[in-house]
Amino acid sequence: MQADRNETNSLVPQEKGELLGKQSIVSRSVVKNLIREAMEGMKNAYTPYSNFKVGAALLTAKQEIYTGCNVENAAYGSTNCAERTALFKAISEGEREFAAIAIVGGKGGVITDYCPPCGICRQVIREFVDPKTFLVILARSEEDYIIYSLESLLPLSFGPENL
Ligand code: THU
Repeated sequence: MQADRNETNSLVPQEKGELLGKQSIVSRSVVKNLIREAMEGMKNAYTPYSNFKVGAALLTAKQEIYTGCNVENAAYGSTNCAERTALFKAISEGEREFAAIAIVGGKGGVITDYCPPCGICRQVIREFVDPKTFLVILARSEEDYIIYSLESLLPLSFGPENL
């Protein structure tokens, strides 16, 4: 389900609450904290080619946070997005259960709009989560954010259960 937006392009409170209800560990204060961490992560972005800086903060089921940034490459296709950086950091540390990810981004690290995850990142996250309950938080600030289920961003997805 795509979250509805109000005139200021953010969720109206009860709808925010509804999605948060899917993940009891993701309270409003946890959302704020994740956004803050994603902003911190963005500071390490390595972006000599696009100068578009992205930060992500991934929340595990155990309430730990792994941050990530985009890491570009002279061979452009070898670039790694912030979301996958965060996820791969967590996976490589043995984490396997995830509740939510917050994402921020903008030219030169200035956040002017929401930064939706690319298709590859959606699919890579899908491997490890229940798309119905995993939350994707897109933020412009700690107060201005929208929350989607992964399922709404990647409907009819192909995952491990399909094999
Ligand atoms: N980027 C991310 O890190 N995450 C996304 O979801 C979208 C795109 C990065 C990749 C590249 O370094 C820059 O943003 C411009 O595409």
